[in-house]
Amino acid sequence: MESTLHEESPRVLVVDDEKVIREILSDFLTMEGYVVRTVENGENALQELERRNYNLVISDLKMPGMGGLELLERVGELRQNVLTVIMTGFGTVETAIEAMKKGAYDYILKPFKIEEVVHVVERGLDRQRLQAENIRLKEAVSLYKVSEAIAQSLSLDTVLDLILDAMLVEAEADVASLLLKDPGTGLFVERTQRHGPNVTGGFSGAVNIAEVLDHYRVDKPILAHGLRALRFFEEPPKDRRLVSFCSIPLKVQDRVIGMLNAYSYTRGHKFSEGQRKMLSVLASRAAVSIENARLYEDLVSKHQDLVKVNQSLAENFRATIIGFAHALEESDKYTRGHSERVAFYSSLTARGLTLPEPEVERVVQAGLMHDIGKIGIRYEKLNKPGKLTPEEVAMFRTHPAKGKRILEPIPSMAELIPGAWCHHENWDGSGYPRGLMGDNIPLLGRIVAIADTYDAMTSDRAYRKALPHDVSIAELERCAGAQFDAELTSVFIAKVEEHRREQVASGKDVPR
Ligand SMILES: [Fe+2]
Repeated sequence: MESTLHEESPRVLVVDDEKVIREILSDFLTMEGYVVRTVENGENALQELERRNYNLVISDLKMPGMGGLELLERVGELRQNVLTVIMTGFGTVETAIEAMKKGAYDYILKPFKIEEVVHVVERGLDRQRLQAENIRLKEAVSLYKVSEAIAQSLSLDTVLDLILDAMLVEAEADVASLLLKDPGTGLFVERTQRHGPNVTGGFSGAVNIAEVLDHYRVDKPILAHGLRALRFFEEPPKDRRLVSFCSIPLKVQDRVIGMLNAYSYTRGHKFSEGQRKMLSVLASRAAVSIENARLYEDLVSKHQDLVKVNQSLAENFRATIIGFAHALEESDKYTRGHSERVAFYSSLTARGLTLPEPEVERVVQAGLMHDIGKIGIRYEKLNKPGKLTPEEVAMFRTHPAKGKRILEPIPSMAELIPGAWCHHENWDGSGYPRGLMGDNIPLLGRIVAIADTYDAMTSDRAYRKALPHDVSIAELERCAGAQFDAELTSVFIAKVEEHRREQVASGKDVPR
């Protein structure tokens, strides 16, 4: 694993073809507490820089083969955070200045005093430290922003997108990939992958999950470069040379729920320890958000299941009620369809009152059930032509209370009771079974009473033919305020007229 630039002693690479100079600089800088390596030319310097991170390179200007200026350019291409100091003899100051224009940090004139060299190195490293702190501060700020965005999002896909974008931007990864453990199968599945601008044509590497998890157990996150990274792959990425690989576990408490993998294919761009730490912070925020988003999605889908169950319960309930109504009408050919028509006429009034939809539904159900108390009453007697005897009238009048008794024990039916129990009450108190008056009659009862009477008048009965619509309406109007709630009567009349006009407009017949 690479070390952070400032966790250990700064590393200095001395490049000079003169052995004496290499030895003097090595000895003195080592005494100052630096870790020093020496090489004799530019080629070897580049090899050494590819192998290890250095803070500072001191290079001679004139060397056989690759000289100091070319080395300076090549070091720049490596994109490493390394300072370069050029050493040059008298008479080549212009070249030294040229070197500084090309990005050298400073120059030292030969022959040099050793304190001068130490001073230049110290100053350079100080500046480097400040720059690194500035970068870290910027990283911390953007990391904070990303974390906030992640924490505020409840959508799993948004969280994943934010994480991958941050990996590409903040860690300068060429490919970012996120694997999540499937809670059902326990397998890690690549959930999403994102490519930076330098990577085209897909990415084929297959991470060795077992190896990565093993490493997490002993050494937590993975930061590996070049060939050493390949042991974490079942199948190394094809067509590209992997430069650097960083893999961070997504953990909730001590469970690994997934992994973030960052890949660099850019020559010289190894992920730094700082970037590894930054990704670790990101991963810890991300893991919690992923878990939350999953719980939330779970909750939403459970809620949807519940809504479905409720819907099917409601449909069952409606079917049961219609079944009751049909059972009731089976025994009486004159009242066939009566319950459903009363339900429909009642719904007209309910809609005219702009009741909320669940209330309209309750009115419909109450309409269907209003005569349920007639189950058990012997119809052949009641449907005879001519007048009913007082005993027959008394028997007929028991049906509202019987309806209440039938519905009472069934919790889901209990709210329909006012329709069955109170649809023969009259506004002026002359109705039955309780002789309620005005607003004391439940709304359901008052609505159903109007619908019931209108349908009775406009249907054939054993003792008379159906009355025309106009006559029936006139009768309702005559009785409004006495038998019926006057306000509801006018709502019903307006709505039933509107309904008949719509029927006619769409080419359907309406009863005369
Ligand atoms: Fe009735």
